[in-house]
Amino acid sequence: MKIKKTYSFAFITVLYLTLVFLLAVSLANFLEKHIGNWSLLIVATCFLVTSFFIIQFRVEYFIYRRVRKIYEEVSLLKTEDLQRKSVTTDMETLSKSLQKFAEGKRIEIKNLTERDSFRRDFLGNVAHELKTPLFTVQGYLLTLLEGASKDEDILEKYLDRANKGVERLTAIVKDLDMIAKLETDDLKMNITTFNILDVIQNVFDLFEMKAKKKNIALVFDKIYEFPVFVTADIERIEQVLINLIVNSIKYGKIGGITTVGIENYNQDKFIIKVSDNGEGIKQEHISRLFERFYRVDQSRSRDQGGSGLGLSIVKHIIEAHNENILVKSTFTKGSEFSFTLKKV
Ligand SMILES: Nc1ncnc2c1ncn2[C@@H]1O[C@H](COP(=O)(O)OP(=O)(O)O)[C@@H](O)[C@H]1O
Ligand SMILES: [Mg+2]
Repeated sequence: MKIKKTYSFAFITVLYLTLVFLLAVSLANFLEKHIGNWSLLIVATCFLVTSFFIIQFRVEYFIYRRVRKIYEEVSLLKTEDLQRKSVTTDMETLSKSLQKFAEGKRIEIKNLTERDSFRRDFLGNVAHELKTPLFTVQGYLLTLLEGASKDEDILEKYLDRANKGVERLTAIVKDLDMIAKLETDDLKMNITTFNILDVIQNVFDLFEMKAKKKNIALVFDKIYEFPVFVTADIERIEQVLINLIVNSIKYGKIGGITTVGIENYNQDKFIIKVSDNGEGIKQEHISRLFERFYRVDQSRSRDQGGSGLGLSIVKHIIEAHNENILVKSTFTKGSEFSFTLKKV
């Protein structure tokens, strides 16, 4: 038969108390002979103090063991977190610490749920983004297979359009790949010292043709006589400049101008500004620009071939450097994207 825990607790405690009682009686007998009347008071005090500590200690131990068992059973709770001290008869402290624990868990669960729904949204967006160009490509290929390929002109036109679709797919997949890399390799930054002017000039050269098609000039804000050295991951900063400059061309006006300038931000930082005099962005969109897949004008950006990932990549990279990115824009007048970088 299993004896109830509280019974065995009471029983052992009583055993202790009986022992103390017996000792007290013998002490009383002994003292009686020597000091007479006062002995009862002394013995009673001793008895009281000793029993008090025995009961206190026993109760504390009893509760501690029970609570510890709860901690062990709830595998989420850490047994090491539980201190004997905090599990005294002071139940208030204990329940407070449990409340704190539960609150912590609730926040944790909320974060996990949020992240989960974020992932689901992200997957949905990816599928949606890939679907459109994929169906376009498929459409052209099927039409060609069904006989349209016999006409030379149509053949070339459709192949060209299918190819555009594939290019768009490739661009999206590249951006996704970049985001995935940034998220996993956050810490693997390859920080070096370099002249930012060279990197900017390099990006200008890369996109000169693209800019020329819209008659847009890519220029520095002034003549820089000396190199401007910064400390950062050169490849990633080049990516940032590419994304910003390509945007300035894509959303710039025909015959416009994209200007890049470097200024002192504070004692140990530069600020690099990429500005255009293009279409600009309405205030209500600014806060969402850096979200993945966010585009101001869904239909227009689509034929410009953007995935809506460019600025979220930019933000990722700048944040991995612990730097800031800022946007200023006036609708129909132009935009300025700027970011800070550490001086050498
Ligand atoms: N320089 C700019 N001028 C005007 N609008 C811009 C500029 N840069 C970005 N945008 C707006 O921000 C949106 C998000 O940019 P981005 O993340 O690079 O995506 P994408 O260029 O692929 O559309 C763009 O769709 C565009 O509407
Ligand atoms: Mg872009």
